[in-house]
Amino acid sequence: MSENESPVFCNYDQSDYQEAFWGEGKRAYEDACEVMALERLMPKTGKLLLEIGAGAGRNTLRYPGYEKIVLMDYALTQMQQAQARLGTSDRFVYVAADVFHLPFADALFDGATMIRVLHHLSEIEPAFEEIQRVMQTRSTFILEYANKRNLKAILRYLTGKQKWNPFSQERVEFVELNFNNHPDIVEKGLQQNNFKVEKVLSVSNLRIGSLKKKENLNWMLKLESLLQTAAAPLKISPSVFMRCQQTFDKPNALQHEFFRCPNCQSYEIVEEDVRIHCHACGRDYPIVDGIYDFRLK
Ligand SMILES: C[S@@+](CC[C@H](N)C(=O)[O-])C[C@H]1O[C@@H](n2cnc3c(N)ncnc32)[C@H](O)[C@@H]1O
Repeated sequence: MSENESPVFCNYDQSDYQEAFWGEGKRAYEDACEVMALERLMPKTGKLLLEIGAGAGRNTLRYPGYEKIVLMDYALTQMQQAQARLGTSDRFVYVAADVFHLPFADALFDGATMIRVLHHLSEIEPAFEEIQRVMQTRSTFILEYANKRNLKAILRYLTGKQKWNPFSQERVEFVELNFNNHPDIVEKGLQQNNFKVEKVLSVSNLRIGSLKKKENLNWMLKLESLLQTAAAPLKISPSVFMRCQQTFDKPNALQHEFFRCPNCQSYEIVEEDVRIHCHACGRDYPIVDGIYDFRLK
Protein backbone atom coordinates (compact mmCIF):
# COMPACT_ATOMS: atom_id res chain seq x y z
CA MET A 1 0.00 0.00 0.00
CA SER A 2 1.48 3.38 -0.99
CA GLU A 3 1.72 6.24 1.52
CA ASN A 4 -0.89 8.26 -0.36
CA GLU A 5 -3.63 5.64 -0.39
CA SER A 6 -3.07 4.74 3.25
CA PRO A 7 -6.00 4.82 5.69
CA VAL A 8 -5.87 7.50 8.37
CA PHE A 9 -5.63 7.02 12.13
CA CYS A 10 -5.35 8.85 15.41
CA ASN A 11 -1.81 9.90 16.27
CA TYR A 12 -0.95 10.03 19.99
CA ASP A 13 2.33 11.90 19.57
CA GLN A 14 2.83 14.40 22.44
CA SER A 15 -0.19 12.87 24.20
CA ASP A 16 -0.20 12.33 27.98
CA TYR A 17 -2.73 9.51 27.43
CA GLN A 18 -1.25 7.16 30.03
CA GLU A 19 -1.49 9.69 32.85
CA ALA A 20 -4.62 11.51 31.70
CA PHE A 21 -6.67 8.38 30.94
CA TRP A 22 -5.35 5.79 33.39
CA GLY A 23 -3.69 7.92 36.11
CA GLU A 24 -4.82 8.08 39.77
CA GLY A 25 -6.75 4.84 39.46
CA LYS A 26 -9.42 6.58 37.35
CA ARG A 27 -10.00 3.42 35.39
CA ALA A 28 -8.84 0.83 37.91
CA TYR A 29 -11.90 -1.28 37.06
CA GLU A 30 -11.28 -1.37 33.29
CA ASP A 31 -7.57 -1.96 33.82
CA ALA A 32 -8.25 -4.93 36.13
CA CYS A 33 -10.82 -6.32 33.66
CA GLU A 34 -8.17 -6.28 30.96
CA VAL A 35 -5.64 -8.06 33.20
CA MET A 36 -8.26 -10.77 33.76
CA ALA A 37 -9.01 -11.07 30.03
CA LEU A 38 -5.35 -11.25 29.06
CA GLU A 39 -4.69 -13.94 31.66
CA ARG A 40 -7.50 -15.97 30.11
CA LEU A 41 -6.46 -15.49 26.52
CA MET A 42 -2.68 -15.21 26.30
CA PRO A 43 -0.64 -18.30 25.44
CA LYS A 44 1.45 -19.40 28.42
CA THR A 45 4.68 -19.37 26.41
CA GLY A 46 5.94 -17.86 23.20
CA LYS A 47 9.07 -16.55 21.49
CA LEU A 48 8.43 -13.21 19.82
CA LEU A 49 5.38 -11.05 20.41
CA LEU A 50 4.38 -7.92 18.50
CA GLU A 51 2.43 -5.43 20.63
CA ILE A 52 0.65 -3.17 18.13
CA GLY A 53 -0.23 0.34 19.33
CA ALA A 54 1.55 -0.43 22.59
CA GLY A 55 1.26 3.15 23.83
CA ALA A 56 3.24 3.69 27.02
CA GLY A 57 3.53 -0.06 27.62
CA ARG A 58 0.62 -0.35 30.06
CA ASN A 59 0.02 -3.98 29.07
CA THR A 60 3.52 -5.14 28.15
CA LEU A 61 4.33 -6.83 31.45
CA ARG A 62 1.09 -8.78 31.14
CA TYR A 63 2.70 -11.00 28.50
CA PRO A 64 5.14 -12.82 30.81
CA GLY A 65 5.31 -16.01 28.74
CA TYR A 66 6.98 -14.33 25.75
CA GLU A 67 10.76 -14.35 25.54
CA LYS A 68 10.94 -11.13 23.54
CA ILE A 69 8.43 -8.33 22.90
CA VAL A 70 8.46 -5.79 20.09
CA LEU A 71 6.53 -2.71 21.23
CA MET A 72 5.25 -0.80 18.24
CA ASP A 73 3.33 2.47 18.10
CA TYR A 74 3.04 5.28 15.59
CA ALA A 75 3.75 7.86 18.28
CA LEU A 76 7.46 8.17 19.00
CA THR A 77 6.67 9.89 22.31
CA GLN A 78 4.56 6.88 23.39
CA MET A 79 7.54 4.63 22.65
CA GLN A 80 9.75 6.96 24.69
CA GLN A 81 7.33 6.69 27.62
CA ALA A 82 7.24 2.91 27.26
CA GLN A 83 11.04 2.79 27.25
CA ALA A 84 11.19 5.00 30.36
CA ARG A 85 8.79 2.60 32.09
CA LEU A 86 10.25 -0.74 30.97
CA GLY A 87 13.89 0.18 30.43
CA THR A 88 16.32 -1.02 27.82
CA SER A 89 17.04 -4.73 27.72
CA ASP A 90 17.30 -7.50 25.14
CA ARG A 91 13.71 -8.48 25.96
CA PHE A 92 12.14 -5.28 24.58
CA VAL A 93 12.48 -3.72 21.12
CA TYR A 94 10.87 -0.30 20.55
CA VAL A 95 9.61 0.61 17.09
CA ALA A 96 7.73 3.69 15.88
CA ALA A 97 5.71 2.58 12.86
CA ASP A 98 2.27 2.42 11.35
CA VAL A 99 0.17 -0.75 11.46
CA PHE A 100 -0.63 -0.33 7.76
CA HIS A 101 3.11 -0.40 6.88
CA LEU A 102 4.76 -2.76 9.33
CA PRO A 103 8.56 -2.74 9.03
CA PHE A 104 8.89 -6.47 9.72
CA ALA A 105 9.65 -9.62 7.74
CA ASP A 106 6.84 -11.93 6.65
CA ALA A 107 5.87 -14.64 9.16
CA LEU A 108 8.18 -13.29 11.89
CA PHE A 109 6.00 -13.32 15.02
CA ASP A 110 4.42 -16.21 16.89
CA GLY A 111 2.14 -13.81 18.76
CA ALA A 112 0.59 -10.34 18.44
CA THR A 113 -1.74 -8.17 20.47
CA MET A 114 -3.71 -5.07 19.54
CA ILE A 115 -5.57 -3.54 22.49
CA ARG A 116 -7.57 -0.30 22.28
CA VAL A 117 -6.26 0.54 18.82
CA LEU A 118 -8.81 -0.72 16.28
CA HIS A 119 -11.21 2.12 17.14
CA HIS A 120 -8.59 4.64 15.94
CA LEU A 121 -8.22 3.19 12.43
CA SER A 122 -10.31 4.58 9.55
CA GLU A 123 -10.23 1.11 7.92
CA ILE A 124 -9.80 -2.23 9.61
CA GLU A 125 -9.24 -4.72 6.77
CA PRO A 126 -5.88 -3.36 5.53
CA ALA A 127 -4.63 -3.49 9.12
CA PHE A 128 -5.68 -7.15 9.50
CA GLU A 129 -4.04 -7.97 6.18
CA GLU A 130 -0.74 -6.44 7.26
CA ILE A 131 -0.85 -8.10 10.68
CA GLN A 132 -1.54 -11.45 9.03
CA ARG A 133 1.51 -10.95 6.81
CA VAL A 134 3.95 -10.63 9.71
CA MET A 135 2.47 -13.54 11.70
CA GLN A 136 3.49 -17.17 11.50
CA THR A 137 1.11 -19.99 10.71
CA ARG A 138 -0.87 -21.02 13.81
CA SER A 139 0.36 -18.00 15.77
CA THR A 140 -1.95 -16.21 18.22
CA PHE A 141 -3.46 -12.77 17.73
CA ILE A 142 -5.24 -11.14 20.69
CA LEU A 143 -7.52 -8.33 19.58
CA GLU A 144 -9.61 -5.88 21.60
CA TYR A 145 -12.22 -3.69 19.98
CA ALA A 146 -14.77 -1.10 21.13
CA ASN A 147 -18.16 -2.63 20.52
CA LYS A 148 -20.78 -0.54 18.74
CA ARG A 149 -23.58 -2.92 19.79
CA ASN A 150 -23.07 -2.45 23.53
CA LEU A 151 -25.89 -2.55 26.06
CA LYS A 152 -25.75 1.16 26.90
CA ALA A 153 -25.99 2.11 23.20
CA ILE A 154 -28.87 -0.34 22.73
CA LEU A 155 -30.82 1.15 25.65
CA ARG A 156 -30.15 4.72 24.55
CA TYR A 157 -31.28 3.88 21.03
CA LEU A 158 -34.46 2.11 22.16
CA THR A 159 -35.41 5.02 24.44
CA GLY A 160 -34.78 7.61 21.73
CA LYS A 161 -31.70 9.16 23.40
CA GLN A 162 -29.38 8.20 20.57
CA LYS A 163 -29.93 8.48 16.83
CA TRP A 164 -27.51 5.92 15.43
CA ASN A 165 -28.60 2.31 15.34
CA PRO A 166 -26.29 -0.03 17.32
CA PHE A 167 -27.57 -3.04 15.36
CA SER A 168 -26.61 -1.76 11.92
CA GLN A 169 -23.21 -2.86 10.72
CA GLU A 170 -21.60 0.39 9.58
CA ARG A 171 -19.07 1.89 11.94
CA VAL A 172 -19.97 4.85 14.11
CA GLU A 173 -17.46 7.70 14.47
CA PHE A 174 -18.52 9.20 17.81
CA VAL A 175 -15.55 11.62 17.93
CA GLU A 176 -13.16 12.32 15.05
CA LEU A 177 -11.05 9.18 14.43
CA ASN A 178 -12.80 7.24 17.22
CA PHE A 179 -14.90 4.48 15.72
CA ASN A 180 -16.99 1.84 17.41
CA ASN A 181 -17.18 -1.38 15.41
CA HIS A 182 -20.00 -3.87 15.05
CA PRO A 183 -18.94 -7.43 16.10
CA ASP A 184 -20.01 -8.91 12.75
CA ILE A 185 -17.78 -6.53 10.81
CA VAL A 186 -14.75 -7.23 12.99
CA GLU A 187 -15.25 -10.99 12.71
CA LYS A 188 -15.78 -10.80 8.95
CA GLY A 189 -12.58 -8.75 8.56
CA LEU A 190 -10.64 -11.29 10.59
CA GLN A 191 -12.07 -14.23 8.71
CA GLN A 192 -11.27 -12.68 5.32
CA ASN A 193 -7.68 -12.32 6.42
CA ASN A 194 -7.25 -15.90 7.59
CA PHE A 195 -7.77 -15.38 11.29
CA LYS A 196 -9.86 -18.02 13.00
CA VAL A 197 -11.64 -16.81 16.14
CA GLU A 198 -10.94 -19.28 18.95
CA LYS A 199 -12.35 -17.51 21.98
CA VAL A 200 -14.33 -14.33 22.72
CA LEU A 201 -14.64 -12.51 26.06
CA SER A 202 -17.13 -9.88 27.09
CA VAL A 203 -15.05 -7.22 28.88
CA SER A 204 -15.71 -4.18 31.11
CA ASN A 205 -19.32 -5.31 31.44
CA LEU A 206 -20.01 -3.03 34.44
CA ARG A 207 -18.58 0.17 32.98
CA ILE A 208 -21.09 2.44 34.68
CA GLY A 209 -19.81 5.76 36.04
CA SER A 210 -21.84 5.72 39.25
CA LEU A 211 -20.67 2.19 40.20
CA LYS A 212 -16.98 2.77 39.62
CA LYS A 213 -15.89 3.55 43.17
CA LYS A 214 -12.91 2.14 45.02
CA GLU A 215 -15.15 0.43 47.60
CA ASN A 216 -17.08 -1.39 44.83
CA LEU A 217 -14.07 -2.72 42.96
CA ASN A 218 -13.94 -6.11 44.67
CA TRP A 219 -17.49 -7.26 43.99
CA MET A 220 -17.49 -5.68 40.54
CA LEU A 221 -14.48 -7.74 39.55
CA LYS A 222 -16.05 -10.93 40.93
CA LEU A 223 -19.12 -10.32 38.80
CA GLU A 224 -16.99 -9.28 35.84
CA SER A 225 -15.13 -12.56 36.10
CA LEU A 226 -18.38 -14.47 35.62
CA LEU A 227 -19.71 -12.20 32.89
CA GLN A 228 -16.56 -12.28 30.77
CA THR A 229 -17.36 -15.84 29.74
CA ALA A 230 -21.09 -16.16 30.50
CA ALA A 231 -22.08 -13.01 28.55
CA ALA A 232 -19.57 -13.55 25.75
CA PRO A 233 -22.07 -15.05 23.26
CA LEU A 234 -24.24 -11.91 23.50
CA LYS A 235 -21.43 -9.52 22.51
CA ILE A 236 -23.10 -6.52 24.15
CA SER A 237 -20.21 -5.35 26.36
CA PRO A 238 -18.42 -2.07 25.60
CA SER A 239 -15.15 -3.90 25.01
CA VAL A 240 -14.62 -7.29 23.39
CA PHE A 241 -11.43 -9.34 23.58
CA MET A 242 -10.74 -12.19 21.16
CA ARG A 243 -8.11 -14.83 20.72
CA CYS A 244 -7.56 -15.67 17.05
CA GLN A 245 -5.31 -18.07 15.23
CA GLN A 246 -3.50 -17.06 12.04
CA THR A 247 -4.31 -19.97 9.71
CA PHE A 248 -2.63 -19.02 6.43
CA ASP A 249 0.05 -21.59 5.64
CA LYS A 250 3.48 -20.10 4.93
CA PRO A 251 7.12 -20.64 5.88
CA ASN A 252 8.42 -18.80 8.93
CA ALA A 253 10.84 -15.90 8.50
CA LEU A 254 14.44 -17.02 8.17
CA GLN A 255 16.65 -16.71 11.24
CA HIS A 256 18.48 -13.59 10.00
CA GLU A 257 15.31 -11.82 8.82
CA PHE A 258 13.71 -9.25 11.08
CA PHE A 259 13.11 -5.80 9.56
CA ARG A 260 11.71 -5.19 6.08
CA CYS A 261 11.63 -1.78 4.42
CA PRO A 262 8.11 -0.35 4.90
CA ASN A 263 8.61 1.90 1.86
CA CYS A 264 9.74 -0.58 -0.83
CA GLN A 265 9.27 -3.93 0.98
CA SER A 266 12.91 -4.89 0.42
CA TYR A 267 14.87 -7.09 2.81
CA GLU A 268 18.10 -5.33 1.78
CA ILE A 269 18.00 -3.30 4.94
CA VAL A 270 21.04 -2.85 7.11
CA GLU A 271 21.42 -1.54 10.64
CA GLU A 272 24.16 1.04 11.06
CA ASP A 273 25.08 3.16 14.11
CA VAL A 274 22.22 5.63 14.26
CA ARG A 275 20.08 4.52 11.36
CA ILE A 276 18.69 1.67 9.35
CA HIS A 277 19.49 2.03 5.68
CA CYS A 278 17.55 0.42 2.85
CA HIS A 279 19.87 -0.41 -0.02
CA ALA A 280 16.98 -0.93 -2.42
CA CYS A 281 15.18 2.44 -2.17
CA GLY A 282 17.91 4.43 -0.38
CA ARG A 283 15.65 5.44 2.48
CA ASP A 284 17.12 6.00 5.95
CA TYR A 285 15.25 5.28 9.17
CA PRO A 286 16.71 6.92 12.29
CA ILE A 287 17.38 5.08 15.53
CA VAL A 288 16.56 7.62 18.24
CA ASP A 289 17.87 6.66 21.71
CA GLY A 290 17.39 2.99 20.90
CA ILE A 291 13.94 3.45 19.28
CA TYR A 292 13.67 2.46 15.61
CA ASP A 293 11.75 5.13 13.75
CA PHE A 294 10.15 3.57 10.65
CA ARG A 295 7.40 6.15 10.17
CA LEU A 296 6.99 7.05 6.52
CA LYS A 297 5.61 10.58 6.97
C1 LIG B 1 -5.83 4.25 23.21
S1 LIG B 1 -4.11 4.03 22.96
C2 LIG B 1 -3.85 2.38 23.57
C3 LIG B 1 -2.45 2.11 24.02
C4 LIG B 1 -2.24 0.72 24.63
N1 LIG B 1 -2.56 -0.34 23.70
C5 LIG B 1 -3.07 0.58 25.88
O1 LIG B 1 -4.09 -0.15 25.84
O2 LIG B 1 -2.73 1.19 26.90
C6 LIG B 1 -4.01 3.80 21.21
C7 LIG B 1 -2.59 3.75 20.68
O3 LIG B 1 -2.63 3.30 19.30
C8 LIG B 1 -1.67 4.05 18.57
N2 LIG B 1 -2.05 4.03 17.15
C9 LIG B 1 -3.15 4.55 16.59
N3 LIG B 1 -3.15 4.31 15.27
C10 LIG B 1 -2.01 3.62 14.99
C11 LIG B 1 -1.44 3.10 13.79
N4 LIG B 1 -2.03 3.23 12.61
N5 LIG B 1 -0.27 2.45 13.88
C12 LIG B 1 0.35 2.31 15.08
N6 LIG B 1 -0.13 2.79 16.23
C13 LIG B 1 -1.31 3.44 16.19
C14 LIG B 1 -1.72 5.44 19.19
O4 LIG B 1 -0.56 6.19 18.90
C15 LIG B 1 -1.91 5.11 20.67
O5 LIG B 1 -0.68 5.03 21.35
